[in-house]
Amino acid sequence: MSLPFEDGAFPQSPEQANQYDAADEDYVQYWEGRDYEHGAETIALKRLLGDISCAHAADVGGGFGRLSLLLEQYAEKVTLLDPSQKQLDAASHHLQGHPRIHPRLMRVGELGLPDSDVDLLTMIRVMHHLPDPEPTLKEVSRVLRPGGTAIIEVANLAHAVNKVRYLTKGQRLPHNSVDIRSASKREEGSIPFVNHHPATVVEQFAAVGLRVDRKLSVSNLRSPSLKRALPTRALLAVERTLQASLASLDFGPSLFFLLRKSA
Ligand SMILES: C[S@@+](CC[C@H](N)C(=O)[O-])C[C@H]1O[C@@H](n2cnc3c(N)ncnc32)[C@H](O)[C@@H]1O
Repeated sequence: MSLPFEDGAFPQSPEQANQYDAADEDYVQYWEGRDYEHGAETIALKRLLGDISCAHAADVGGGFGRLSLLLEQYAEKVTLLDPSQKQLDAASHHLQGHPRIHPRLMRVGELGLPDSDVDLLTMIRVMHHLPDPEPTLKEVSRVLRPGGTAIIEVANLAHAVNKVRYLTKGQRLPHNSVDIRSASKREEGSIPFVNHHPATVVEQFAAVGLRVDRKLSVSNLRSPSLKRALPTRALLAVERTLQASLASLDFGPSLFFLLRKSA
């Protein structure tokens, strides 16, 4: 199912994807001071990965390999795919001493792997760059073997704060992707930054043969004041107890979907 983009949201072009190659872009540095978010995502991934043990995992849009490192514990070989050469250069540095993780340049929309080649695939913090994720999801499904597992993170339009925001304005939450870039970023033609409605992405997953097995609500305590007030360890202890229980409410800013490709 394809829905029209909200005004101002554009499909991503290869040039926009290459923005991670820009001289002033430093994604490794972006993670400084974000131990809570990294910890919350690691908790979610481990919970969803469970006791999986497989031959080949792929981390799509894996960046510098922040989470590819975790996949190494679940797969004999990990392919880190990313369209940004700068991210892959950072990955070569970050992943030194991890020869089972293979960074590889991909073209936007093309994973460059054979059909059914992958047992396990993750795509974290990439959907927010995809106003229309269907072509990418189709590729994800193509490379995944029947019965294989995907874990896809979605920037959640229906999170609790947004629900209140829309409600107080007397508006309904849109079901299409919503561009959350500033006006100046839009004018610069920067990479799209969108939030997705969970009900819509579930339909988009289903359209390419990916069935939702489980969902977690992640980064539920992402708030500058909470992060200032409480130590990361305490925040993560609470986060751990909330991810499953808040999932049915689509509470947090980030949703992790555990998906199974139909056999
Ligand atoms: C926010 S970073 C996330 C990196 C990594 N997954 C993580 O969570 O640390 C987004 C990554 O997606 C890549 N990317 C952008 N557009 C993409 C696309 N259409 N398909 C796959 N990856 C894409 C970028 O180059 C960048 O490395």
